Amino acid sequence: FTGIFVNHGLMRKNEEIEVPVALRKLGINVETVEASKEFFHELEGIVDPEEKRKVIGRTFIRVFEREASKLNARFLLQGTIYSDVIESGAASRSGEKIKSHHNVGGLPENMSLELLEPLRELFKDEVRNLGHSLGIDKFLISRQPFPGPGLGVRIIGEVTSEKAQILKEVDSIFMEVLRESGDLDKIWQSFAVLLPVSSVGVKGDKRSYGYVVALRAVNSSEGMTASWYELPHSVLRQASSRITSEVKEIGRVVFDITDKPPATIEWE
Ligand code: XMP
Repeated sequence: FTGIFVNHGLMRKNEEIEVPVALRKLGINVETVEASKEFFHELEGIVDPEEKRKVIGRTFIRVFEREASKLNARFLLQGTIYSDVIESGAASRSGEKIKSHHNVGGLPENMSLELLEPLRELFKDEVRNLGHSLGIDKFLISRQPFPGPGLGVRIIGEVTSEKAQILKEVDSIFMEVLRESGDLDKIWQSFAVLLPVSSVGVKGDKRSYGYVVALRAVNSSEGMTASWYELPHSVLRQASSRITSEVKEIGRVVFDITDKPPATIEWE
């Protein structure tokens, strides 16, 4: 077994370093493949969210296949869970597709690797219970769910490496503020979304024009429904003032107060 960590450049800040280290500590053999340039190149000019998911899924598999052929691998083991299957329309009677999860609907039809998906019939909370009973560290089990296409679905419109850099900074400040306030442990998912909108503002005595970023924090037990988390105003104020003073490209911060349904958790 060889674990392959594909760095698509769309993980949270520093995760491409932290995740392989944490997995190696569990005795799992993981190799990192640096592929972010390839992903950003493939994503050039793409604004449609489903198209983005497909491009990211396809590029993932291309990278995997390239690495797997070096290892003579026959199988691809991946952590698809039941909500991915349902939302990709693979399991529902009507076949209604909500989105193509890259690890289900986003896979190319002609794939040389055979798929192994041992968690396919379990929901996230069940996967976490399984992890607990296997004695895996809480740091890994309690991590927030994170979409396969990563920040690609949290950058609305065209994805570029510059925008990913901005969003990583904003997201990490938001997470830090939530950790310090003690809210992080009570939240299912929290993140920032970079909007393709600029808004006028004032910095010093000059007119400025910066990106609008949306913050989202929700609670859920399996991701199928969710309700927005009532963050204290003081925490929101702290997040907004740190983000606008520490990330110069951001001009305005808003907070998403929509449940799922009708909205989904990710903005796409
Ligand atoms: P939505 O946005 O549909 O998301 O309310 C439900 C949950 O699924 C996560 N998500 C993904 N997880 N691959 C994944 O493994 C994906 O492609 C993907 N897209 C969304 C999302 O973050 C939320 O927890």
